[in-house]
Amino acid sequence: AVERTLVLVKPDGVRRGLSGEVLRRIEAKGYTLAAVQLLTATPELLSQHYAEHVGKPFYQPLVDFMLSGPTLAVVAEGQRVIEGFRSLAGTTDPTTAAPGTIRGDLARDWGTSVLQNIVHGSDSPESAEREIALWFPSL
Ligand code: CMP
Repeated sequence: AVERTLVLVKPDGVRRGLSGEVLRRIEAKGYTLAAVQLLTATPELLSQHYAEHVGKPFYQPLVDFMLSGPTLAVVAEGQRVIEGFRSLAGTTDPTTAAPGTIRGDLARDWGTSVLQNIVHGSDSPESAEREIALWFPSL
């Protein structure tokens, strides 16, 4: 089925000038861009986006990192794009992400890379719907 997913180029990716490279890989795979917006997150937005991680040991470092600069929020559309984008992104920890994936090819600084892993992609249709509504209230 044709789906929509929320992709975030996180502050490390934007800072490193990787926004275009991430968009290029999304489009090269054949997905289309339904919406794109550069914005700096807020603590409120992040507590909803990362609701499942509130209270975990890495939550506060994650929030501090996500507030450290602008994020590029993207709605990508295509056949099975939710699973497909996660495959493009590679595993959460770039240390072991496969070559050919965004994280496997582009991550740097292994000490901080689980946190600073360039991109986010929704993990299910339910998450995608919820996350798109959070980052793009007008959609
Ligand atoms: P993401 O999958 O976008 O959403 C949760 C984020 O939390 C994840 O990317 C990482 O950036 C971060 N994260 C997950 N697990 C850990 C961990 N063990 N240590 C630090 N950060 C983590």
